[in-house]
Amino acid sequence: MTTSNMPAHVGIIMDGNGRWAQHRNMARTQGHIEGLKAAKRIVKAASDMGISYLTFYTFSTENWKRTKEEVGFIMGLVKKYLMAEFDFYNENKIRIRFTGNLEGLPPDIAQEVMQVCDKTACFTGLSVILALNYGGRDEIVRAVRKITQKGIALSEITEDTLRQHLDNPDVPDPDLIIRTASELRSSNFLLWESAYSEFYFSDKLWPDWDEEDLKNAIISYKNRKRRFGGITA
Ligand code: FPP
Repeated sequence: MTTSNMPAHVGIIMDGNGRWAQHRNMARTQGHIEGLKAAKRIVKAASDMGISYLTFYTFSTENWKRTKEEVGFIMGLVKKYLMAEFDFYNENKIRIRFTGNLEGLPPDIAQEVMQVCDKTACFTGLSVILALNYGGRDEIVRAVRKITQKGIALSEITEDTLRQHLDNPDVPDPDLIIRTASELRSSNFLLWESAYSEFYFSDKLWPDWDEEDLKNAIISYKNRKRRFGGITA
């Protein structure tokens, strides 16, 4: 694949872990284990392709509605594997970043996330952004609170003020957002940042995703004309 017109930032709504497991008469949690393996495959592929930012919608502010067992299992996976993959980050110069409501996470998970972000902050390759306890509306509310706390005058608030108070103001908006498993909605993912993102929907369940699927999504992206509300010359 040529490196021209590559998306700098790809966001992924990983969907279908539960269905993948149910189709095999397995517990839903097994689907999350396979989902984690798929995430690692896609991180490696994105890193090799020269993508700069990859955001994974790992756990939404609404996912707390799931059973205690499932929530505990997903948090447990994060805790068990996030730091354990340090050698993989080091080999590929992958930086881990975070978006979401850190204060609402169990303290041990929040600490694990902060530690891995700290330890990989020096890596200059692909940035993998974990959206954990993340909601687009919540991110906007938190930004408004930060602005209010600073006492910024109403007349001075612009779109740029809001952007500067989002979780990662230095990260460019996602060029491409992928959602797997045949669901056609954005589910509160990167609401502000996705204003002009291109969307790619796939019927494949997340645990079945591999490098070839990412390539197909990027080929589709490369063939689109982005006008950002303007007109093509
Ligand atoms: C959706 O499947 C997936 C999630 C709720 C996210 C959990 C993702 C993982 C555990 C993969 C780990 C990835 C990282 C980067 C740590 P679903 O349960 O909604 O599937 P369903 O719609 O078929 O029920």
